[in-house]
Amino acid sequence: MQIIRDIATLHRAIDALKLGRKSVALVPTMGALHNGHLSLVRMARRVADHVVVSIFVNPTQFGPNEDFDAYPRDEGRDAALLVDAGTALLWAPAVDVMYPDGHRTHIEVAELGAEYCGAARPGHFDGVATVVAKLFNQVRPDVAIFGEKDWQQLAIIRRMARDLDFAIDILGAPIARDSDGLALSSRNAYLTKDQRAAAAAFPAALQAAAQAIAAGEDVERSLARAEAAIVAGGFDSIDYVALADADSLERLTEFRAPARLLAAARIGKTRLIDNLAVS
Ligand code: PAF
Repeated sequence: MQIIRDIATLHRAIDALKLGRKSVALVPTMGALHNGHLSLVRMARRVADHVVVSIFVNPTQFGPNEDFDAYPRDEGRDAALLVDAGTALLWAPAVDVMYPDGHRTHIEVAELGAEYCGAARPGHFDGVATVVAKLFNQVRPDVAIFGEKDWQQLAIIRRMARDLDFAIDILGAPIARDSDGLALSSRNAYLTKDQRAAAAAFPAALQAAAQAIAAGEDVERSLARAEAAIVAGGFDSIDYVALADADSLERLTEFRAPARLLAAARIGKTRLIDNLAVS
């Protein structure tokens, strides 16, 4: 696996990978890789000839009081996992390569970025969209793969690709979960042992609400019951538990397919997100 840190070398390496009309899949990540990321790499291998993974902890998607400095970083461990998973190229630019002095242009995500996670993290999705657009232009993939765990992010990137005419297939990969149902996340590493045990209440409450809504129960009542169960399970606060149109993310007060249950909740200093299809 080549590890590349500058744009000129990256362009040459991507040209070489594409020789003979070979296809390239990009898996954008911020590192701290877990089995969820590796399932994205496995999907990428199935749909393209070569897999490029990026590792870049993107400062523009972190708010001033968020965990940018503390975000877990271990490139050596991540690189070894990516070699085993069959990655051709690791794109790992430093911050001043991605955002050289004088960088001023960014993407602004309207509406879709304002609700749910965007309400608690103003500017977050502008930072995500900007770096993903840059990664698309740098790597020029045929297909890019994102985890469904961040459903809002996936919807925003799909919209951005349509709005800005990126000729790239955007694929979502199913959420990878631990045996107790907790969605795999790099931020799970912040949980203490007790918090980790309690965190299983989060997916369990969402599962119960999704089943109740699909069975015809009142949406507001099902969401309120889920919030109460998450707090009773040991979480400190709820950012949101909402039913949304799976594509437009419009908030739904009555069930209609395709719908997605979206949620974020805080346990200690850690903010966890999750979502489920309601069908
Ligand atoms: O989901 C992530 O890890 C990040 O938001 C992404 C897509 C790599 C952009 O920095």
